[in-house]
Amino acid sequence: MFDAKGQNKTDGVRDWRDRLNYSRDLGTGFAAPGGEFTRALFEWSFTPMGELLHTVIRGRRVVELGAGMMSFGYALASVCGARNFVAVEPFYGDIQKKSILSHLSESKGISNRIPYKVVDQDMLAYLEGEPDDFLCILACGIEDCILPGPDYRKKVENEIMRTLEKDSFFLSSHSDLCPKTLKHIELNFPRASSPKVFDRLRLHGKSEAFEKNEEKLRKFVFGLDH
Ligand SMILES: C[S@@+](CC[C@H](N)C(=O)[O-])C[C@H]1O[C@@H](n2cnc3c(N)ncnc32)[C@H](O)[C@@H]1O
Repeated sequence: MFDAKGQNKTDGVRDWRDRLNYSRDLGTGFAAPGGEFTRALFEWSFTPMGELLHTVIRGRRVVELGAGMMSFGYALASVCGARNFVAVEPFYGDIQKKSILSHLSESKGISNRIPYKVVDQDMLAYLEGEPDDFLCILACGIEDCILPGPDYRKKVENEIMRTLEKDSFFLSSHSDLCPKTLKHIELNFPRASSPKVFDRLRLHGKSEAFEKNEEKLRKFVFGLDH
């Protein structure tokens, strides 16, 4: 992944097709440019139902797997009051960094600034280095065609289960990552930019997460006040 000078080999590469070819050779996933998936979740966070995201993200260590080129994961974490944010992005980390910096300069004084880091590793390598019971995890647009295969996906799902904080959630939006041993609820939300398009959001968690958030989930997901 890194050259002799310790620089990521995709840093500064202009054409996304070159990044895609590079990722094909590497075999740890595909540098498919996204754009809309994390953005859709961020925009939904401003709607009455999207308040749910504030509840589950506030105060957490948020990690986005496959954050892409844009800063919407950081913006979501910051608007929801996360403790900090890590963007895991092996192929567009250089662009992700610039995007967060430009978001910070444009939103100076408007939005809450939180500590952040951009990590150039692939998601499996990154999660393997994290402790048990620690994170709130986000994945948007990570469909099966992005990852190298079912074995890799299964390992990532096991790592999500291990590293997820006991009372926190894994938010999987428009994504095929689905750790089987965690409970989950599912809902569909409309995209602000094209309301006829819906994204599927799953919230996966251990029993503690569902018990702790039972009231709020009843209100936001099932529309019940009591
Ligand atoms: C469809 S894009 C989604 C990007 C972003 N979440 C969005 O909605 O704009 C998938 C992203 O996953 C990244 N990716 C591919 N394989 C990966 C892996 N093994 N670990 C982490 N990210 C990976 C790609 O480089 C790409 O940025």
